[in-house]
Amino acid sequence: MDFDNNEDIVVGRIKAITERLEHLQEVGLYFYNQPVTELRGGARVLINGRDMGLYASYSYLGLLGHPRINKAAKDAIDRYGTGTHGVRMLAGTLDLHRELEETIAEFKGAEAAVTYTSGYATNLSAISSLLGRGGYVICDKLNHASIVDGCLMSGAKFLRFRHNDMDDLESRLKNLPEGSTKLVIVDAVFSMDGDVIDFPKIVELSKKYHAWLMIDEAHSLGMLGKTGRGIEEHFGMEGTADINMGTLSKTIPSVGGYIAGKKELIEFLSHASRAYIFSAALPPAQAAAANEAFKVILDEPWRIEKLNANTKQFINGIQERGFDTLNTSTAIVPVLCGDDERAFALTREAQQHDVFVLPVVSPAVPPGLARLRATVTAAHEADEIEYAMNVIETAGKKIGII
Ligand SMILES: Cc1ncc(COP(=O)(O)O)c(C=O)c1O
Repeated sequence: MDFDNNEDIVVGRIKAITERLEHLQEVGLYFYNQPVTELRGGARVLINGRDMGLYASYSYLGLLGHPRINKAAKDAIDRYGTGTHGVRMLAGTLDLHRELEETIAEFKGAEAAVTYTSGYATNLSAISSLLGRGGYVICDKLNHASIVDGCLMSGAKFLRFRHNDMDDLESRLKNLPEGSTKLVIVDAVFSMDGDVIDFPKIVELSKKYHAWLMIDEAHSLGMLGKTGRGIEEHFGMEGTADINMGTLSKTIPSVGGYIAGKKELIEFLSHASRAYIFSAALPPAQAAAANEAFKVILDEPWRIEKLNANTKQFINGIQERGFDTLNTSTAIVPVLCGDDERAFALTREAQQHDVFVLPVVSPAVPPGLARLRATVTAAHEADEIEYAMNVIETAGKKIGII
């Protein structure tokens, strides 16, 4: 291939990214893909030979490395090996998958559940197999990319409403043809902003306009609700969403995704969704780890209380120091910086003081809204959080963000 042919679309795309990366590397502002070489307790990691406080983790309840979960994974390897015999419908299904799916269904108060090998594949496959041409899918503008991709792949007409704006959602629903099939999909907690969807109003509107409702609980499972069961428990509205999606890669320290719902829906997905039929089953260690993690959440309720206390300390502390944190009320705390360069500069200062945070810049977020996407977990201690906030404050002042 001739890499000097600037007319070529592929060359153009590769060059645009390569040039941006080379520039960031040259000026010492490239922070992505740094390998963690050791987990040191739930809240610290070794990166580039340095012991750092981790404020970029999805392991919200601090379950990564939990002895019970590690043991379940190791026992599963001893019993089944490291892989499966292929796809679920043929020889890939293990009793471990069944157990995990029963655990998820029970945890979510659903009739049944089905698992996939990633959250991304779950959204892609479930949405595109449920809906097709002739249907309508209506999404919050800040929904995760895996939902967007699933919607595009489905062939259904794809509509978006302003972020968490229920009047805008209603105006879209109102204008759809009577009797048409509609699916409303939203994140429960938004992955870049940390705010919670107005679930009661979404449920009301979905019922009023006879739309199916799907909720993505990637960042609310284990986080929201007294016992961590998610957004329905948080609002005391158990059993109201039609399709409950979640991941096994965040609070649940494994990998994979699930859909929970009515038995018929799960039977359908287990026989008609392509990621289930055409992609190998979840490995035994990951299925066993995920299964055990749900049990640990119920056995160790202090983790949710500690996460809530740490979240409060972090949001209040960052706001008191003068930063804008948008509308977050969860452990995902956007620390707004303005332009991309400021977000990179704040990251560099923080990492130089052993606070591992990462920047999220455009196009992942709108230009001018570059930020640190900082997170706290149940594994942090109050004095560690105070130290991280002081580092961010000093850096923010130096760069002129606050
Ligand atoms: C809201 C949301 N849905 C789905 C996914 C995809 O999950 P996974 O990383 O398990 O593939 C993510 C991942 O970040 C997410 O934030």
